[in-house]
Amino acid sequence: MAHRHALAALAAFATAGLVLTAVPASADGGRRPAKTLGELAAAKDRYFGAATDVVGLADAEYARQLAHEFNSTTAGNELKWYATEPQQGVFDFTLGDQVVHFARKNNMVFRGHTLMWHNQLPDWLTNGAWTADQLRAILKNHITQEVRHYRGKAYSWDVVNEPFNEDGTYRDTIFYRILGPGYIADAFRWAHEADPHAKLYLNDYNVEYIGPKSDAYHALVKSLKAEGVPIHGMGFQGHLALQYGYPTTLQENLQRFADLGVDVAITELDIRMLLPATDDKLATQAKWYADVTKACLAVRRCVGITLWGHTDKYSWIPAFFPGEGAALPYDENLNPKPAYYAIRDALSQ
Ligand code: XIL
Repeated sequence: MAHRHALAALAAFATAGLVLTAVPASADGGRRPAKTLGELAAAKDRYFGAATDVVGLADAEYARQLAHEFNSTTAGNELKWYATEPQQGVFDFTLGDQVVHFARKNNMVFRGHTLMWHNQLPDWLTNGAWTADQLRAILKNHITQEVRHYRGKAYSWDVVNEPFNEDGTYRDTIFYRILGPGYIADAFRWAHEADPHAKLYLNDYNVEYIGPKSDAYHALVKSLKAEGVPIHGMGFQGHLALQYGYPTTLQENLQRFADLGVDVAITELDIRMLLPATDDKLATQAKWYADVTKACLAVRRCVGITLWGHTDKYSWIPAFFPGEGAALPYDENLNPKPAYYAIRDALSQ
């Protein structure tokens, strides 16, 4: 039952406490109370998630909203290497466990993010003068320990984050420099050994549209599949910005990856704008959120969408893109914006 694919994968989580109630979208005739984004997505065999900010969890209204409205989450920072292995061979899953606990308590699908990335690495790793054998052993141990710790609790993992440059060449990271391109296949194999049921993803930004970077991923996924490497998904971060235009080839692009036999997901969606936000910009933003949602719904193997946070109150954008912001469907006072209603409509069609 091909179209049941996503929900079947999610159903494996029933044993871990996840219950998705598939509600026919047309059943309420407008009479029942409005459904949440998570419920609407579940009715389409998808999840609709938002990254958890652990600082935000102390904010009762933020936590309530996140738990109520979304049926999936990931940790914004807590599972990155600097957080989980702050000293060599010394693992700390305290903060990651908080997010996983929150997800399980609220029946949310949990996405693991991320096993390896060139950013937010611990100093001991970046400052070391490693031989290839040493670095390979470090990488294998890191992946094995982290994936094993969350075995049965993580629906998916972003195994390798952002390994390519904009032109589709390999990014010059510590891993690529010392180990060569084969590190990617190794990482997937080690992760698969540690949790054979987790869906393993590549993940990057500026790959939403068809271009040199997404072409390079397409070729990589194809060759990994041909070699029998356990790769199950391609993650499209979706850090969009109004001033750069909408990625009009998104649906076609998602489909061509799906056609390779992997799942696809929008993993870190936010749509920023140059401040101040105006009614016009917020209306355009709302349309873009709806269009991304529709593109995912139009591709059978698009399993879900994750927002990179749900509220402007805790968004990473203002700190990383000075002068930009207002990127999420809830504003700084936790009130829904036009984007929220546009997503609802798109999920209801
Ligand atoms: C960001 C976090 O949101 C920030 O809090 C942190 O300081 C930097 O990283 N691509 C990714 C995410 O894969 O992990 C990044 O998250 C945003 C860009």
